[in-house]
Amino acid sequence: MIVEPAPAKINLALHVRARRADGYHTLETLFAFVADGDVLHLDPSGAPGLRITGPFAAGLSPDDPGNLVLCAEAAFRSQVAPVAPGAWLLDKRLPVASGIGGGSADAAAALRALARAHGVARDDPRLFAIAAALGSDVPACLLGRPALGRGRGERLDLLPPLPPLAVLLVNPLVPVSTAAVFARWDGVDRGALAHGAPLAVAIGGRNDLEPPARALAPAIDDVLALLAAQQGVLLARMSGSGATCFALFDHADDRASAARAVVASQPGWWCLETTLAAQPHVP
Ligand code: C5P
Repeated sequence: MIVEPAPAKINLALHVRARRADGYHTLETLFAFVADGDVLHLDPSGAPGLRITGPFAAGLSPDDPGNLVLCAEAAFRSQVAPVAPGAWLLDKRLPVASGIGGGSADAAAALRALARAHGVARDDPRLFAIAAALGSDVPACLLGRPALGRGRGERLDLLPPLPPLAVLLVNPLVPVSTAAVFARWDGVDRGALAHGAPLAVAIGGRNDLEPPARALAPAIDDVLALLAAQQGVLLARMSGSGATCFALFDHADDRASAARAVVASQPGWWCLETTLAAQPHVP
């Protein structure tokens, strides 16, 4: 049995630069990962198929042929090695369609699990080609380390390790469609990411998808206002196309106080205390 973590990604900053003719958007983003996420299990010789457990299992259908775990397996079998399909168990701990990786992280974990099971190097370029075809965020999740993403997010440059800051993730449990958020972007290029130390660049940057996401899901305003008001917060921002927002703290006790404040004020929201991870995937 292979157990592969699928850590949540957060976009510390996300600058949308242009709308492309193919419907995608050119962007610049700082990808980071946290120490928690979904967990994927692969038994390469078990009965083929996908089972889904965990607190957010109800948001997905295991029989959906579009599930990115099964799509990743199909692509691996046709493009890397014609291995027998395996038995997959996905422990879905992250909210679905929430801007923190989710399906992309699961797809990347599936590729890593298949690479481990079948003796393929995890930096094999064929895995990155499959990842880019599966989704814009899948290559970053396959890399699993802080990176600057360009193009539609699939062109990656490694960043130096980030400090192990305390992170609070908060989602108002409103699913948001990535395509719908990008479609509402106003087309105004507000400029490139700065150069320099990643954390400083992040703090000086933006998420250009916040205004369109807030228009579609006004609860994001409430999340950001609550996070920004917390003691010790270094940065409060939405991740990806939302609706999950994150807050970074130097101190775990400030994160704990913020989590208590969120739960007291909005008991129905999803809230996770975690940490920025420099190397979440090292087996
Ligand atoms: O690549 P992925 O399938 O994850 O993208 C989902 C949707 O998000 C795309 O169909 C597109 O509408 C939008 N998107 C975009 N520009 C990007 C990434 C995603 O417009 N760079």
